[in-house]
Amino acid sequence: MVDLQAIVDDIHRTLTPRIGEGKVADYIPQLARVDAAKFGMSVIDLDGRVYKAGDCDEPFSIQSISKVFTLTLALGKHGESTWNRVGREPSGSAFNSIVQLEHENGKPRNPFINAGAIVVSDLVLAGHTPREAIGEIVRFVQYLADDTSIAIDPDVAKSETATGYRNFALANFMKSYGKLTHAVDHVLGVYFHQCALAMSCTQLARSGLFLAGNGKNPITGHTVVSSQRARRINALMLTCGHYDGSGDFAYHVGLPGKSGVGGGILAVAPGRASVAVWSPGLNHNGNSLIGSLALEMLAARTGWSVFGAPAT
Ligand code: DON
Repeated sequence: MVDLQAIVDDIHRTLTPRIGEGKVADYIPQLARVDAAKFGMSVIDLDGRVYKAGDCDEPFSIQSISKVFTLTLALGKHGESTWNRVGREPSGSAFNSIVQLEHENGKPRNPFINAGAIVVSDLVLAGHTPREAIGEIVRFVQYLADDTSIAIDPDVAKSETATGYRNFALANFMKSYGKLTHAVDHVLGVYFHQCALAMSCTQLARSGLFLAGNGKNPITGHTVVSSQRARRINALMLTCGHYDGSGDFAYHVGLPGKSGVGGGILAVAPGRASVAVWSPGLNHNGNSLIGSLALEMLAARTGWSVFGAPAT
């Protein structure tokens, strides 16, 4: 039996001298205010046991990790027709890249790059006002994590709305191709607010449990999606969840994962555990530098991988 708490403690101890490495995102002014010297890690197994270290219960801005939850919602509302609007291929480009969109007539490569997530927000908005759609997203995440205290940080939402020039460019560009159904400011209103959800590592790991549990949250007993859908969301996280760093993450960690520029990463060990890490310093692909290392150490020490069984 592996002693998960001992592994998590050892990862925390080993990485402590390096916390603060990387560059905190500053293109959203409110994110630049975050203390770079933070590190948190929570691992929750399918029996609901929690193994944690550091700043694991401090809420932070989940940013692009929210794209996993809105994709799940959009698939629930629109089913497979979601894929008429957004692709399923890795982009090999930065999360906020605009170049590929013109070559591909305004249809984003995947739901995790910003352009793709904006299309997914448009899908979640169907039949709702922006306020209702934002409420639906918050309630869905609260239901996944079984925690009604989860909320949006309004200062982060405001800060990103005021400076989201690149996202406005992406959304207007897609609108010009007829790829968005709703008004650009309504779609981006939903997108900016979902990115501004504030959650701790423990809350995030709980919200990812359904992906580790074949679609069912083993703590609440709620079946969130079918096992096939959980596998497919995991596949997208593996191939696209770290943008142009997805190959590297698969190589070093070997688990589906989704990063955010707030420095969080949600990783899924199917059949075993849901894991969240947070450390705000980012690598050159915009993914948490220390968080990625922590997950690499966890995968190495537990043997968890979607690519093969651990050596015996
Ligand atoms: O749209 C943006 O730029 C941010 N709200 C989210 C980007 C993000 O988290 C990319 N992930 N590493």
